[in-house]
Formats: sequence, C-alpha cells, structure tokens
Amino acid sequence: MKVLITDPIDDAGLERLREAGHDVETAYDVDGEALLDAVADANALVVRSGTEVTEAVFEAASDLVIVGRAGIGVDNIDIDAATEHGVIVANAPEGNVRAAAEHTVAMSFAAARSIPQAHARLKMGEWAKSDYLGTELNGKTLGIVGLGRVGQEVAKRLDGLGMNLVAYDPYISEERADRLGAELVEFEACLEQADFLTVHTPLTPETEGMISTGELELMGGGYLVNCARGGVVDEDALAAAVDDGVLDGAAIDVFAEEPVSPDSPLLDVDDIIVTPHLGASTEAAQENVATSIADQIDAAFAGEPVMNA
Ligand code: NAD
Ligand code: MLT
Repeated sequence: MKVLITDPIDDAGLERLREAGHDVETAYDVDGEALLDAVADANALVVRSGTEVTEAVFEAASDLVIVGRAGIGVDNIDIDAATEHGVIVANAPEGNVRAAAEHTVAMSFAAARSIPQAHARLKMGEWAKSDYLGTELNGKTLGIVGLGRVGQEVAKRLDGLGMNLVAYDPYISEERADRLGAELVEFEACLEQADFLTVHTPLTPETEGMISTGELELMGGGYLVNCARGGVVDEDALAAAVDDGVLDGAAIDVFAEEPVSPDSPLLDVDDIIVTPHLGASTEAAQENVATSIADQIDAAFAGEPVMNA
C-alpha cells in the first residue's frame, strides 16, 4: 500500500510503516496541484497541522482508505468530505497530551515572569532587573475553558502549584471536575474569576471566536494562555486588549493562520509572548503520535477498528 506523508513525523512512525511492508513516500511543503498529484495514487495520507485536507484532496485520491492525523486536532481535515468519499479519519488523541500540558504550564510561568522579554534584553546586553516585577501563580485562580485530556493534565499540574481551579466545559460532568478539584462554572463566571485563563477546546464552529473583546473585558486583567487552536481567540481583539492594558499579558502557541504572518498584531505587543505551535514538540510526543498513527493505518488496511477523531 502507498502511504503518503505530507507533514514531517518522527522516524519511528516511518520505520513502523516500512516494516509493515508499505511503500512510504514523503512530500513535505506541497499544496495546490502538487498535493493533488502526490495523493492521486495514495492509499493512506498522514498529516500534522500543516496540510489542509480539503474536498479537492479526497476527489483527487480515489484509492484513499485513511487520513491519519499525527496529533489531536483534525480541524485541518474536511471530515464531511471524508465521510462522503468513504475515507476513514483517525487521529492520535493521547500521545502528545502531556507535552501540550507542560507547554501550557511553561507558557503561563513565562508570561507571568516576562521570561522571554527579560531574556531578549539581557542577550542584548541590558541588565533590566528593575523593569520586571512578576506575578506568582500560587494562590491565583486558573480558569480552564475545555476540561478534556489536555485541560485535565493542566489542571492537575497547576493545582499542584497552589492555584484555585474553575472550569467551563458544557460537555463534562461535575464529578469529573470535582475529581480534579475544579469548580465547574458558567462561561462568564470563568472569565470573571480567572487570573489566568487557559483555552483547551477543539476548533469548531461553536468555539471559533468564542473569546473576543467582550470576553476579554469580562476578564478585566490577568493573563490569557492559548495552546489549543488559534481561531478560538480573536487575535485582533486580544492584541488590542493587551495593548490597552485590559489584560496584563498573553501567551500564544497557536494562530488562526499558520505559519503566522509577520504582520500579525499579536507579534507587535510586547506583553504577548509567542511560540510557533510547539505544544506537541517533544521527542516523546512525536514518537508517540507517529507510531500510533502508523498502527492505525495498518489497522485500517486490515479492516480493523481505528481510533477515530
Ligand atoms: P479533548 O477533545 O480531549 O478536550 C476538549 C474539551 O473541550 C472537551 O472536554 C470538550 O467537552 C470541550 N469543549 C468542546 N466545546 C466546548 C465549548 N464550546 N466550550 C467549552 N468546552 C468545550 O481535546 P484535547 O486533547 O484536550 O485537546 C485540546 C485542544 O488542544 C485541541 O484543540 C487540540 O487540537 C489542541 N492541542 C494543541 C497542541 C499544540 O501543539 N499546541 C497539542 C495538543 C493538543
Ligand atoms: C495537535 O492537535 O495534536 C497539535 O496541535 C500538535 C500538532 O499539530 O502536531
């Protein structure tokens, strides 16, 4: 079977696919006609977040059995078109959860203590000690929007660091929140109470733009951390809110369009710290998701159940 890989995955996944006897081809950074040509005779397509798997891809790939997402979010795959063309969509929902949670914690501390800003100035030769008076996470309230796999791991870690936890997630039980020591509250209450608000929802029509000017005003201070999906937070509204002092700062790993444009307003505001979608970028996480998706491709070819997104 031909397995086409259009976003780089860990070698362990490539090896597993080759050991299973598949013809593994890579075509990175292709889009448009080049992507349609590359996928034409593929039986499986493996992507991360870089490849947009549109209806045109499914139309061009008449032998496609499965699209495997080496990661969690499947917002770059047209699921309706996949269903229409009878193609399985599978993801790797477990392998990078801890990495994403750790990055969220790191970004929270980095924003609270202005670590990137102070680092940059010291590297330029400036000893700006008196310019940075940070905030402790201990004793503050963490608002979690989306208490799923990553949200729960963030909750455990920041509970352990002395934060009070509130969460908004209309799809989980109070018992699950209780077990984590988090109080389940309405969205507005979560925004109002949070000193740090961390977003962990998927990007769906319901969550797109769910945090904009009005929601940031309800926070009325504190920090917003987004290591989930860019479109959930309105970027112009966030840049304006931090620039105007409505919020103290923000830490952003994900963008509505990636790679983010150098003209993005988020890059212009000093108190917004950014990373280029690094949440899942650890060796362990990349090996986990690559081998998991390789196993699922094998399962799909064998007609066995796969872990659907
Ligand atoms: P998950 O499906 O386990 O959890 C998502 C949670 O969001 C669920 O509990 C769901 O009930 C909740 N939710 C859905 N709609 C909501 C809404 N309107 N309001 C509030 N809550 C809502 O997903 P996960 O594995 O925890 O991943 C969370 C997000 O993090 C996803 O967007 C994923 O793509 C992203 N992610 C990013 C990175 C990264 O590299 N930055 C790494 C891993 C995951
Ligand atoms: C995910 O959804 O798994 C992450 O965003 C990480 C990635 O893009 O690989």
